[in-house]
Amino acid sequence: MPDSRGRPVPVGLQGTTAAPAGHDTTAANRARQNFDGVASVWLFGYGSLIYKADFPYLERRPATIHGWSRRLWQGSHDHRGTPANPGRVATLVAEAGATCTGMAYRVAPATFAQLDFREKNGYLRHVVQLDFGHGESTEGVVYIAAPNNAAWLGPASIAAIARHVAAAAGPSGRNRDYVLRLADALHALGVEDPHVFAVATALRELPG
Ligand code: SIN
Repeated sequence: MPDSRGRPVPVGLQGTTAAPAGHDTTAANRARQNFDGVASVWLFGYGSLIYKADFPYLERRPATIHGWSRRLWQGSHDHRGTPANPGRVATLVAEAGATCTGMAYRVAPATFAQLDFREKNGYLRHVVQLDFGHGESTEGVVYIAAPNNAAWLGPASIAAIARHVAAAAGPSGRNRDYVLRLADALHALGVEDPHVFAVATALRELPG
């Protein structure tokens, strides 16, 4: 099936693998989609993938997905925290009527080896419809950490999330910087995200 720009995109690739019992989703993700014969795939980023594109891509464009909300409900044991003191990072939760705007990247299928490693702490690849606006849309892949994954932390008050974030750091840096950079990137995209902005505001009032 060609996308709205006439390029081939994978169809029917929704994986069937269940969430693995441990944190590491690398092998499960490799088994989820078959990119054989596909020249490029759209990836949708809504968290650090918006502002830290440390992977090769062919083009990038802001995009929106429907039916999902961004929440700082996923644990980070490998990037912005440690196994003993996990940080809090973004995931998506299903919510009827919600929209989530982020950055879409068109990547070569081989790039998923790098992306799977980066997103290995509980995230699984899902196929979603990306809306570029002006009636343009295409199928793409997004990493989502669902409530049944081993690193899930779940909801908490804005104040509790901010305190948690302020106290965590890991190999990729301070958890505080993850949230503040995400808030800045969303501002730059012109995106209103009450959840992320409220945590960022609370964080700025904490020492650090
Ligand atoms: C994403 O950015 O799309 C996934 C979550 C993250 O890596 O921060």
